[in-house]
Amino acid sequence: MTTESRFYRDAEAYDSSTARWSEQLARELVPWLGVRRDARWLDVGCGTGVVSDAIMDLAWPGAVTGIDASEPYLEAARRKVPGARFELGDATALPFPDGSFEAVVCSLMLALVPDPAAAVGQMARVAAPGGVVGLAAWDGENYLQHEYWEAAQEVGAQGREPDPIAGGEDLVRLLGSAGLREAQTRLIQLTVTFDGFDDYWQTLLGRKGHITAHFESQPPARQAAIRETVRPRVERKPGAKVPVVASAWVAKARR
Ligand SMILES: C[S@@+](CC[C@H](N)C(=O)[O-])C[C@H]1O[C@@H](n2cnc3c(N)ncnc32)[C@H](O)[C@@H]1O
Repeated sequence: MTTESRFYRDAEAYDSSTARWSEQLARELVPWLGVRRDARWLDVGCGTGVVSDAIMDLAWPGAVTGIDASEPYLEAARRKVPGARFELGDATALPFPDGSFEAVVCSLMLALVPDPAAAVGQMARVAAPGGVVGLAAWDGENYLQHEYWEAAQEVGAQGREPDPIAGGEDLVRLLGSAGLREAQTRLIQLTVTFDGFDDYWQTLLGRKGHITAHFESQPPARQAAIRETVRPRVERKPGAKVPVVASAWVAKARR
């Protein structure tokens, strides 16, 4: 299965970090798709159920199915959204017949799969005629935790690979290549405010994702240099609250 299984194991760490932004994103994305009541929804790369939860709250769905490659995340999703059905599976080989869903949504997963076009092709295949496919991805300039990677680069620590998807145009191109029509895109700004720099820093490293692995692989002196280079980028004055802004693109198109 094609997944970042190294990282996507700790659902609690995800929910206390990235999900604080992805919940805001899902609550913008779901209503923007303009899906009729009682539709059948598919949430691809559903993770801990953040988007499915927003669908339940905001879209009056007929049924919600989530699919993800991480069993621990699916367990968290089942607890969070008991009214939805969650299955283990690969986004590039969706185990559903053609035309099964009026709405297919995929938030913050495409940059993680080796072949995003294959994944969007599968989403288009399982969308019903007239149905909508909605995507979301971090902005390439102002992505989540860009302060960390900029600081790491500044102090000479290599390691960040550029995201294969950097903006709304990439999403629109993927939707068009999958044969979908009337694509639209929009940029959304998301802000999470931390009690202070330490709170922010602990959350950043508590994600147990790429950043944690990268940070832990650095020698202690460089770890300290990264931390102190990040600090003035996010902390306006010592002890002040730390608002962390990230931008994400959403895009949608019809089958
Ligand atoms: C950043 S999380 C996003 C989760 C959720 N959509 C949200 O908005 O909070 C990315 C998710 O994609 C899943 N994933 C990565 N590659 C996958 C694949 N090939 N098939 C299915 N899920 C995949 C991961 O397991 C993880 O749950």
